[in-house]
Amino acid sequence: MKTATVHNERSVERLVVGQATRDGAGVKLTRVLTQDLQHRLDPFLMLDAFGTDSPEDYIAGFPDHPHRGFETVTYMIAGRMRHRDSAGHEGLLTNGGVQWMTAGRGVIHSEMPEQEDGRMEGFQLWLNLGANDKMRPAWYRDIPSAEIPDLRLPGATVRVIAGESHGVQGAMRRDRTEPLYLDLHLDPDARFEQPLPATHNAFVYVYRGALRIGERRVDVQRMAVLANTPGSDGVVLQALDAPARALLIAGAPLREPIAQYGPFVMNTREQLMQAVADYQQGRLAA
Ligand code: CO
Repeated sequence: MKTATVHNERSVERLVVGQATRDGAGVKLTRVLTQDLQHRLDPFLMLDAFGTDSPEDYIAGFPDHPHRGFETVTYMIAGRMRHRDSAGHEGLLTNGGVQWMTAGRGVIHSEMPEQEDGRMEGFQLWLNLGANDKMRPAWYRDIPSAEIPDLRLPGATVRVIAGESHGVQGAMRRDRTEPLYLDLHLDPDARFEQPLPATHNAFVYVYRGALRIGERRVDVQRMAVLANTPGSDGVVLQALDAPARALLIAGAPLREPIAQYGPFVMNTREQLMQAVADYQQGRLAA
C-alpha cells in the first residue's frame, strides 16, 4: 500500500450548516451546498443530504423531471430507489450503491423510493460539465456497492467512488473536472491524509461523529469548505473519540459562467431559455 504524506495541510475556510428544504414531490432533505456556493466550490453545483426513518418524508419521491448541462451523482447509504428515464433506462439503487448520470443535452427521469417503510439515507451531488460537454448525449451508470473499490488503512476504510486515493482507483473518472469523491469511515482517533492539488476546490461533509481538520472541529451535519492555501498539498482529517463518517469531495474548477434555472445549468441566459423551450416542445431528451 502506497502511503501518501501531506506536508502542508489545508485549513477550514468556513463551516456551513445546510438548509432544510423539500424537493421533488415533497421529499424532506437538507441542501448542504447551496446556489451561493457554486462559484466558491466550482465544479460542484449542489449537494443534498437526505436521511430519515419516516416514510412520509420520502415516499412521494421525485416524479418525472428534466435535467440539462451537468451530472448527478446519487449515493445511497440506506434504502432503495428506482430510476427510470426518457431513454428507456431503468435501474435500482440500493444500500451503498451509486448512480452516476450525465444529463448532457437532456434527460427526463424519475427517482422513486421502492420501499414503504424503513430508513432512507443518502446524498445527491451535482457536478457541472464544461461548456464543450453540456450538449453531449445523456449517459448513466449504476454502480452497485460491490463495484466501489475500498481502500483499507489502519483505522480507516475509504470507499473510493471517484478519483484516486493512496493508489486505489475509484469507480469513476472524469477528465476535465477530475472529481474526487471519497466516503470515509474512521475509527475513534484515526487519522486520514489525502493529497489534493491546491487549486482544486474541496469540501468535507460529516454525517456521523465529528472530525478535526487543522485547528477546527467539524461536527455532524456540517460542511467544511477547505481553504485553497497556496503551497498546500492536501488535507488531514482526524476522528475524535467516536467513529466518524464523512464525504471528502474535490475537483478542478471549470472557471466558466454558471447560469442556472432549476434543473438546467448552462453558461448563458440564452442557453437556459433554449433549454426551457426544448423541454416545453418535447425536444429536450429527443
Ligand atoms: Co433528477
